Amino acid sequence: MKILVIGSGGREHALAWRLAQSPRVSHVFVAPGNPGIAQEEGVHCVAVDGIDAWLELARREEVAFTIVGPEAPLAAGIVDRFQAEGLAIFGPNREAAQLESSKYFAKEFMRRHGIPTAHFATFDDVTRAHAYLDEVGAPIVLKADGLASGKGVVVAQTLAEAHAALDHLMGGHFGQAGRQVVIEEYLSGEEVSFIVMADALQVLPFATSQDHKRLHDGDAGPNTGGMGAYSPAPLVTPTLHGRIMRDIILPTLQGMAQEGHAYTGFLYAGLMVTPDGNVKVLEYNCRLGDPETQPLLMRLRSDLVDLVEAALQGRLDQATIDWDRRPAIGVVLAAPGYPDAPQSGALISGLNEASADTHVFHAGTHHESGHWVTRGGRVLCVTALGDTLKTARHHAYERVQKIHFDGMQYRQDIGWRALKPNLSQP
Ligand code: AMP
Ligand code: GLY
Repeated sequence: MKILVIGSGGREHALAWRLAQSPRVSHVFVAPGNPGIAQEEGVHCVAVDGIDAWLELARREEVAFTIVGPEAPLAAGIVDRFQAEGLAIFGPNREAAQLESSKYFAKEFMRRHGIPTAHFATFDDVTRAHAYLDEVGAPIVLKADGLASGKGVVVAQTLAEAHAALDHLMGGHFGQAGRQVVIEEYLSGEEVSFIVMADALQVLPFATSQDHKRLHDGDAGPNTGGMGAYSPAPLVTPTLHGRIMRDIILPTLQGMAQEGHAYTGFLYAGLMVTPDGNVKVLEYNCRLGDPETQPLLMRLRSDLVDLVEAALQGRLDQATIDWDRRPAIGVVLAAPGYPDAPQSGALISGLNEASADTHVFHAGTHHESGHWVTRGGRVLCVTALGDTLKTARHHAYERVQKIHFDGMQYRQDIGWRALKPNLSQP
């Protein structure tokens, strides 16, 4: 069986690596992929971009199905296009992908269906939005309505910051995405990533995970796409898990189906567990998380091909999912200047050493004249399993120490929330 994965980052590397291990799979194609992904046995990167080219590739190679990694093709309607051509693809169609592609849609949807989320107001008029900020004060959160590659959210601690952020978001830098802005209540607490596979009303939850969004240790510095992740997240007890399914995931799927946008694909709810034990939705993503996917797929024991097939055939309710009981952790190595102005072209050393239960997923690398060089913001995600989270963390950082490129940025404290109060140095 042949499978196509769309995307080119660490998440897609992990997907391709896991899919290629299925005894049922002969070829995994990744488009456009990256040179690190192309190193995996049974995996072939095809440097083509855009829905037309992907359609043509899927047809030519007669792939059994396609999995979409990033949000942009989903928001652009890749699923609608493939389905119109009779090609199997796992992901939400364009309408359903609005859960991620429009913050306005997502917030109004949650309001309509009583799904817990921060209080909010939406504006397309910048003057009224400024007046509203003066009324509600800080801290406050501002979100550009549309997709903005993770740069459209500002958590403003002061009113001055909030006003400046508003001018920035609505000032034309974000094009259509900044035409509307959602201003919402600041929530404190601990974030978790809750990812499920869904097909209309059928759902199969993944193991829990937690991301580290800020650039620096101790959750300081600017927001990034994610600097590291681990699974499971002990914060999500079985009781909390049940509540999240009952109060958030099921009402989301029911609401989408009721509104005529039945949701198929990976659904990722970014949740805030507040100090009083309540859970609220910060955002929906219509895809797997990056870097959460890397530790999650290190732990996945079930055949991902069987699971996607079950979803595509409407039998997800009969599927079971098996996880390695060992925790996994992924540490992102980012380029200097990331996230604002990442610099490419640095020579990477130390990639050839292998160690058991550790895998280095490539996100922004390039291979030239026999050398690995950096290309892009997040460069690598060093991922490891261990008997305990502490051991997994030790394995990951041991591997990190062997890798070098000039200006390499990474967090030393991935997993700290789960390891507190006795966090040891890696
Ligand atoms: P989003 O893309 O909406 O998840 O926002 C990106 C990040 O901003 C989240 O992962 C949180 O760290 C932070 N954030 C978003 N909304 C809020 C909120 N209402 N209160 C506090 N932090 C938030
Ligand atoms: N790790 C956060 C995301 O994938 O959006």
